[in-house]
Amino acid sequence: MTNILCIGAGYVGGSTMPIIASHCPQHRFVIVDINDARIAAWQSDQLPIYEPGLDEIVHQTLGKNLFFSTEINRNIAEADIIFVSVNTPTKMFGQGAGRAADLQYWEKTARQILENSTSSKIVVEKSTLPVRTAEAMERILNSNGNGLHFDVLSNPEFLAEGTAVHDMQNPNRVLIGGRETEAGQKAIESLVEIYAHWVPRERILTTNLWSSELSKLVANAFLAQRISSINAISALCERTEADVNEVANAIGRDARIGSHFLRASVGFGGSCFKKDILNLVYLCEHYGLPEVAQYWEQVVTMNEYQETRFAANMVTSMFNTVAGKRIALFGASFKANTNDTRESPALEVCRALLAEQADIVITDPHAMENACYDLKELATRVVFEPDPYIAARSAHAIAILTEWRQYTELDYEKIHHSMVKPAFIFDGRNLLDHKRLYKLGFNVYPIGKPPLTHSLINHS
Ligand SMILES: NC(=O)c1ccc[n+]([C@@H]2O[C@H](COP(=O)([O-])OP(=O)(O)OC[C@H]3O[C@@H](n4cnc5c(N)ncnc54)[C@H](O)[C@@H]3O)[C@@H](O)[C@H]2O)c1
Repeated sequence: MTNILCIGAGYVGGSTMPIIASHCPQHRFVIVDINDARIAAWQSDQLPIYEPGLDEIVHQTLGKNLFFSTEINRNIAEADIIFVSVNTPTKMFGQGAGRAADLQYWEKTARQILENSTSSKIVVEKSTLPVRTAEAMERILNSNGNGLHFDVLSNPEFLAEGTAVHDMQNPNRVLIGGRETEAGQKAIESLVEIYAHWVPRERILTTNLWSSELSKLVANAFLAQRISSINAISALCERTEADVNEVANAIGRDARIGSHFLRASVGFGGSCFKKDILNLVYLCEHYGLPEVAQYWEQVVTMNEYQETRFAANMVTSMFNTVAGKRIALFGASFKANTNDTRESPALEVCRALLAEQADIVITDPHAMENACYDLKELATRVVFEPDPYIAARSAHAIAILTEWRQYTELDYEKIHHSMVKPAFIFDGRNLLDHKRLYKLGFNVYPIGKPPLTHSLINHS
């Protein structure tokens, strides 16, 4: 039996470790966190994160070979392999503020591992980290004077929230980076063996440490770049009466381009894309590559433009004022099937409309609690309403900000009847049947397509 510890019971630690535990019943898994409430929630009926399929896996393994705990020091001492999945947000102070990764949580963890270890261990970076962080981790860990040896591996997590269970059960690749020394290769093999319980060997890629660390940043930069690329084109489509869905379909048929991740929208969100690109930008600047840094920074700038443009379009379309108008925001999470609201475009649109003195009602099937927390400084100015029908009642407009399937199944005729006329729908996800909505009497504003408006409306 191997004792496997994961430090950090957030989205990554909490969703990956139960799945690994379910495939490796012979090993013992403990997940620890400094956040007592989070650890308690993982052991309750109300898990702290919403992720389809995760409840069953946690309940299958909990108390058998999976344990949650706040006793970090003791569990470090007992562990053979330690995954570190603490948060690495953008640094908001001092050198590199607004760009570099804030490594304080990560470094505290490294020192805590050092202080509490009485045997040699493999330490696995699961958090997303700047390239060459493992070097610093090795230096801290191997500064012990008692002959212990630590092998540091990089094993970045590629799961997407909302499909985390599926992604983890059927990964298109698992990436493990390590030192090219004998000890490093042995450590890599130990981790390969764990994943090989359910992942075909040819999907387990092994590389040097720096390629592995950098690949995670590059993967997120490329994914976000595709969204910003199609969103840039959506703005041009709106000026030229081209239809961005038709353009995406036409270009996506080229196998060199591919059809995935070409959906125009109000913008990307989530805790990772912006932070990881800014981290990449910072690294490029640090290594004296300003042109490369500027190239990638534009992906973030484009995303901010798309969010701002969406909110501004709402205001101009509604006769240049939304002051005192009730507007229902459908969706608060940054994408469907998660309760994560970090960097959600919905919250950016909300803030922009509040600045225009609109009366905002937010509805979401799973993310209301997080949205309420994120908007706490504006809480008195926002109504949180779980029922979308009630949210839309007496509203001038609805904005679709998360692609929850539930929103495709609503009775929009009933909703239209309950709204102030003329009634507007701004579909930030191109989710709904726009022609049908138009026939029901709505003025419909999709992304990257001509709006469908009734004649009284001046949308110039
Ligand atoms: N969320 C994603 O979809 C995703 C995907 C891939 C990679 N990542 C990366 O994984 C890392 C974690 O992301 P997340 O979304 O799970 O973050 P998170 O904020 O949800 O979770 C991090 C957890 O670490 C805990 N923590 C912080 N310092 C600690 C310490 N010293 N000891 C014990 N626990 C500590 C926090 O309390 C928190 O619960 C980040 O580097 C992120 O970039 C995230």
